[in-house]
Amino acid sequence: MKKILIIDDTPEYIEMLEDVLLEYEVHGATDGKSGIELARKILPDTILLDINMPGLNGYEVCRRLKKEPLLKTIPVIFLTANEGCDFEEIGFEVGAVDYVSKPFNATLLKARLKTHVHLYALQSNLQQEVNSRVKEISKLNTEMILVTASIAELKSKETGLHIKRVSKISGKLALYLGLSTHEVEMIEMAAVLHDIGKVGIPDSILNKSTSLDNDEWTMMKTHSKLGYNILSKSEFSLMRYAAKIALEHHERWDGSGYPKGLKGGEISYVGRIVAVADVFDSLLDVRVYKDAWSSQKVKKYFEDMNGIQFDPEVTTILLENFDDFLATRVF
Ligand SMILES: [Fe+2]
Ligand SMILES: [Fe+2]
Repeated sequence: MKKILIIDDTPEYIEMLEDVLLEYEVHGATDGKSGIELARKILPDTILLDINMPGLNGYEVCRRLKKEPLLKTIPVIFLTANEGCDFEEIGFEVGAVDYVSKPFNATLLKARLKTHVHLYALQSNLQQEVNSRVKEISKLNTEMILVTASIAELKSKETGLHIKRVSKISGKLALYLGLSTHEVEMIEMAAVLHDIGKVGIPDSILNKSTSLDNDEWTMMKTHSKLGYNILSKSEFSLMRYAAKIALEHHERWDGSGYPKGLKGGEISYVGRIVAVADVFDSLLDVRVYKDAWSSQKVKKYFEDMNGIQFDPEVTTILLENFDDFLATRVF
């Protein structure tokens, strides 16, 4: 049964409407403040609102309803003993969809109410449909990014878990750094693609178990620029963000990294975050060229490299919450 909320300081009006609107579940409030509270609780399908009330008048109640995300789309119909264009105009200005003059004609009131309740139902269904499509598309996006990134990781004969772990660790570092939820989400998604440029590196180099010679190392280092080239042409800001990470995740705080040898604050903060997350996870992981390091050895490495290879602020966060970051690696 659709719910109608009547806010009117005359209880007799509420009772009268209850008798007329038998096909609805009718709720009543005799002042604006309790009317708004009741609306939050029951989320009615339409609100019938008196204008002249002590305390908050109907216009003010309507303004407040329209400011609340959960209530702002509920249709408001003014019930008014006032006549004249001014009252109607103000009513529409504050967000009402219709008005009915008192004493009201029951047939007319019911017809108008039916229309607005129906329109609201259509609008709500449409919104729900849009929300569920948006959710679906964003899930598909995340999956496509993961699939794309796994191609590069598969070539390195890695498990696919490294990119997921770097994503989680980067997100956690961003969270500790106080970045917004939106930025944390962007970093988590974009960090997955940090090594996408490895698709352009020969398997013989990626999977070599002994040290790379000079030429091989030069070739290996091109993966950051390759990744940037793949991602930077996108019209989507997330991809351009990922391009920055791909380009800068091997830059070092002291300027001795690659490809540009950027130093300190010249490296973007996302580049500095993912640099820490990437090395942290790689050292703890087995690679074709090395065994997994113990957590104590990794901690010592970050203590030694704080302010040399890595941004001191990001490294301090990692070191101060080391166990929490170790736990992030377990899925
Ligand atoms: Fe890399
Ligand atoms: Fe990596």
